[in-house]
Amino acid sequence: MLGNFSYCNPTRLYFGEGAIENLNAELPKYGKNVVLIYGGGSIKKNGIYDKVVEILAKNGKNVAEISGVMPNPTIEKVYEGLEIARKHKADLLLAVGGGSVCDYAKAIAVSVHCDEDPWDKYFLRFEEPTCEIVPVGCVLTMVGTGSEMNAGSVITNRASKLKIGHVFTDAAVMPRFSVLDPTYTFTLPHYQMVAGIYDIFNHICEQYFSGEDDNTSDYIAEGLMRSVVHSSRIANKDMRNYEARSNIMWTATWALNTLIACGKSTDWMVHMLGQAVGAYTDATHGMTLAAVSLPYYRHILPYGLPKFKRFAVNVWGVDAAGKTDEQVAQEGLAAMESWMKELGLAMNISELGATEEMVEGLADATLTMKGGYKVLGRDEIVAIFRESL
Ligand code: NZQ
Ligand code: ZN
Repeated sequence: MLGNFSYCNPTRLYFGEGAIENLNAELPKYGKNVVLIYGGGSIKKNGIYDKVVEILAKNGKNVAEISGVMPNPTIEKVYEGLEIARKHKADLLLAVGGGSVCDYAKAIAVSVHCDEDPWDKYFLRFEEPTCEIVPVGCVLTMVGTGSEMNAGSVITNRASKLKIGHVFTDAAVMPRFSVLDPTYTFTLPHYQMVAGIYDIFNHICEQYFSGEDDNTSDYIAEGLMRSVVHSSRIANKDMRNYEARSNIMWTATWALNTLIACGKSTDWMVHMLGQAVGAYTDATHGMTLAAVSLPYYRHILPYGLPKFKRFAVNVWGVDAAGKTDEQVAQEGLAAMESWMKELGLAMNISELGATEEMVEGLADATLTMKGGYKVLGRDEIVAIFRESL
């Protein structure tokens, strides 16, 4: 483990069926004014909204609402929500939804008391908050992003066709608490469930495929990957299998709550490619990652061959006997590909609405990361998008 790091995760988690009751212990810690933030209405159909509102009322909270937070939340929606949060003098932002709602709440949290434009400050200049941060709490209903226990916030600017994530270093941006009830995810459509599963898997890959040292984080990563593959196969056939869904929920949190990044340089190039696709098509996040992953990993495989071989053997159980390293590594990616197809993931960007005419623009919208096995040139990015069509 050669890298230096600092580790702090202040988010308190309440996990398991009925975990929502713990809101009764959390709410008294904050002031009276709560802004309840949610998406397009799934929580009204499945009863989660009623339960949360009931607990807020029981705790005597004065509640304002920001509703209609869309998947891939936009900066325009942030501006709209800021007015509500400021007017209401928010003491707590309670996000009830998936990664989009949690990310959105964090963007509001760092902007309520800030005079500068949040898009410029946080998503173009990547600055840290210089103002008071409003506490965020989450009730998670969609699993994948890890937003429930990290300081990431991904916001889309439709006008400039940019989707940018900022992982804040200030731990005060992390949710103070998150409620994780696996049964809350039972109403997710299959498409969203598998997109979330691939998001989890790819978060682990992004951190795993970097560095060459003997690193504890990589051993944890392999265990998490095996767990998510195992449980995904069960959940894919039986979406109401509590054991599988709860394991998936827990794995998602650990895949991106900064633990397995410890001591790692980390890659994140699949996310940069996927986010460009998201900015152009508004497609589901996990599907954008699935659609670009194999062309990307096949492209960088020669530069990180020992790690791709290890991935094949330790995650996919490939038998290395009598084979070249290259053959073993390729078999690992082939096993990953067949698992992805089994789940029904998007395997190319065309099915997400991307076209050949968009490729140059997609390349322009792709940020280049430097922590993986190969720093991509623009021509390589273009080639990967063409391969992904
Ligand atoms: O809006 P509603 O009606 O609630 O419907 C949502 C939405 O359409 C629906 N849904 C959520 N829970 C449900 C449900 N439908 C039925 N039953 C339920 N229990 O699912 C749809 C997708 O929700 P969304 O929150 O958009 O999904 P996800 O959790 O995948 O979040 C995606 C966003 O997170 C960002 C992505 O880029 C994207 O903008 N990410 C955030 C990260 C972070 N904070 O660290 C890292 C990730 O890599 C990712 O980039
Ligand atoms: Zn992701």
